Amino acid sequence: MENVDKTRILFVCLGNICRSPAANGVMEQMVGEQGLQDKFLIDSAGTYGGHAGELPDPRMRVAASRRGYNLTHRSRKFREQDFHDFDMIIVMDGSNYENVARLAPERKYLDKVYRFVEFSKNHPNWSYVPDPYYEGHEGFELVLDILEDGCAELINRLK
Ligand code: 4NP
Repeated sequence: MENVDKTRILFVCLGNICRSPAANGVMEQMVGEQGLQDKFLIDSAGTYGGHAGELPDPRMRVAASRRGYNLTHRSRKFREQDFHDFDMIIVMDGSNYENVARLAPERKYLDKVYRFVEFSKNHPNWSYVPDPYYEGHEGFELVLDILEDGCAELINRLK
């Protein structure tokens, strides 16, 4: 199997158009820069499927591209099968956690679910990654700051 040696990571938020596709893009870029493509499989999904098929929110695409990240992920809905297909399911906030946990086939699968802020050590005041959807530009910048921090730490722990 092609992916058998890889750590399979799924980032999850609500719409899969702001936070989790940005995490997906940041993580892929950092993994690539460190030559670790063969060690990781990265994807993202949303617990709400209303944006399925869409590219990330244009505000997030612009903010990310200013930092050198090209976000091309197409939104998709989180599904029960993801508990089988991924080693780590990393959620952005408590509501995402509840929505994901509800789909776990058995309790033991909750061991695969992590909160992103467990890794973003330079942002101790944040107990979740805040939803930027109804925020201004600074909301997107804050999310990218937290994501860059956490993805760097995640790679350090796993490589
Ligand atoms: P995300 O942000 O969960 O970071 O992708 C949102 C995107 C869309 C909606 C809410 C949050 N929405 O309500 O459509």
